[in-house]
Amino acid sequence: MCGIVGYVGDKDAYPILINGLRRLEYRGYDSAGVALVHGGSLHVHKCKGKVSDLEAHMEGQERSGSTGIGHTRWATHGPPNDVNAHPHQSSSGDLALIHNGIIENYAAIKEELTHRGHTFLSDTDTEVLVHLIDDVKRTEEVDLPEAVRLALDSVVGAYAIAVVDRNSPDMIVAARKSSPLVIGIGADGEHFLASDATPIVEHTKNVVYLEDGEIAVMEKGSTLKIRNIKNQEKTPFIQELEMHLEALEKGGYDHFMLKEIHEQPRSIRDSMRGRLNLAKGEVVLGGIKDYEQRFVNARRILIVGCGTSWHAGLVGEYLLEDLARISVEVEYASEFRYRDPIIDENDIVIAISQSGETADTLAAIELAKGKGATIIGICNVVGSSIARVTHAGSYTHAGPEIGVASTKAFTAQVTVLTLMSLMIGHKKGTISGSHFYRLLNELESIPDKVEKVLKNEAQIKYIADIYRSASNALYLGRGSSFPVALEGALKLKEISYVHAEGYPAAEMKHGPIALIDEEMPVFVIATKGASYEKVVSNIQEVKARKGKIIAIVTEGDKAVKELADHVIEIPETVDQFVPLLSVVPLQLISYHIAVMLNRNVDQPRNLAKSVTVE
Ligand code: F6R
Repeated sequence: MCGIVGYVGDKDAYPILINGLRRLEYRGYDSAGVALVHGGSLHVHKCKGKVSDLEAHMEGQERSGSTGIGHTRWATHGPPNDVNAHPHQSSSGDLALIHNGIIENYAAIKEELTHRGHTFLSDTDTEVLVHLIDDVKRTEEVDLPEAVRLALDSVVGAYAIAVVDRNSPDMIVAARKSSPLVIGIGADGEHFLASDATPIVEHTKNVVYLEDGEIAVMEKGSTLKIRNIKNQEKTPFIQELEMHLEALEKGGYDHFMLKEIHEQPRSIRDSMRGRLNLAKGEVVLGGIKDYEQRFVNARRILIVGCGTSWHAGLVGEYLLEDLARISVEVEYASEFRYRDPIIDENDIVIAISQSGETADTLAAIELAKGKGATIIGICNVVGSSIARVTHAGSYTHAGPEIGVASTKAFTAQVTVLTLMSLMIGHKKGTISGSHFYRLLNELESIPDKVEKVLKNEAQIKYIADIYRSASNALYLGRGSSFPVALEGALKLKEISYVHAEGYPAAEMKHGPIALIDEEMPVFVIATKGASYEKVVSNIQEVKARKGKIIAIVTEGDKAVKELADHVIEIPETVDQFVPLLSVVPLQLISYHIAVMLNRNVDQPRNLAKSVTVE
């Protein structure tokens, strides 16, 4: 949440900042702004709205400067307006600062600084930081890096910040605690800064991920210097980015979400690559190899995550219990962290997160780690905070997910959970040799089957058109199709703003059935498998109340076809792998309804990707 960019070097900073902000806009789009240092002057431009609004606002404004910082905001403290937009400036006009995170003790700092004569213009928590740093710089008579260090020592909360000073025109000082920051090392002493690597990759592949409590000094023509809050010098660890620029473009699709839905055959394959070995009949997850025995011995696994990642965790519960016979509890990270959960060193906690930055998931990890549990991460973003705080883990390899609604990340997470369950089940002997081999074969065919589901898009779009005006929708499923029902409902809610609920199909008669009338579309996952007959009965209950049934069925199904208003066929697969196929039509339905309703599909209102606030 909130995107940060920065540049210091010989080039014009403004175009670099604007391009970077466009890449980071998925992190928040309430307002945007830049600060440019040119000679001894500092120019701050900011406005409510998207990066395109900032660009329009910049027409005719002073854009010179080869040092600059930029910000795209997801509002926490104070409404989205021009004044609350970042960068914020100190009263002296010397400093400008951008921030991602939340300053918890901002009220106390503000009160103290107000007594000392500082005037605040905005409602934000961020503004206190720029006044505080300026105050420390003057009273302690120190340079900017030292003022940042001393000021941050009295700050409680989460932050990734970048500060420029008109008196040090070739310098940016940045710092992080619990919010991400990446520094790009360019040619000839130029430096780039961003919340993630997406704005940096087109300039350089050499990056340094700042650690918590570190302060970086980026100065034109100089090497990067890093100190920690205790003033100890740190050696920057330079890594090479594996990201490719094409992954950050729409590639001919109208929206990132549609591109990402269509990428799923590839992203599922990439999540299995080098891990599923049919020839040898084995699953190897290199990242957790050292923990295999711990999994085999585990009596319980806890899974934590938020939103779509939590739904993937629920699918994981079915997979791990079924294939590896380990008891699993799935928790919302946001709830887990505020209980006093009973965990000890025998527990394994799997933390699932696309971004690897979700604040609640990070906090849940810290809590479980503190109690001695082994923490295994399933993350998509390489080098992200969660990937770094876990003991071990497996990346999902879905590639950058830019649409705010998570799609390919979900199927990649489920793929990794499937591999984990197969690996543990095989080691433990809970899956017999021949069954294991059949499952591996079937899993390998899943990307082709997803491809086949995607070929039904025209029919799915036709169905979307019929239900585009519905103001409510129900999603039903049983077993591992229940989390898929939840995920289908979440997709519709978040990008179409249509109220939708996911339910275990049999629970419907305990309340939600009262909602059903001829206006209500009911999406049912009714594929062949263990609970097929039961789901058919649930469909009959809906039909008896005149609800409209849109069923996801196995190719060749006859019984549901006779009852349902519409069926969408998916290829046959084993029960365990159905979620990887059945979620795809639901993603496409939501996408097309949202487009038909003229919604901003990639940047739905009030949302942002990478929720770095609790
Ligand atoms: C839904 C969605 C969110 C995220 C949630 C967790 O489409 O994108 O519900 O799944 O915010 O994010 P990560 O996976 O980055 O921890």
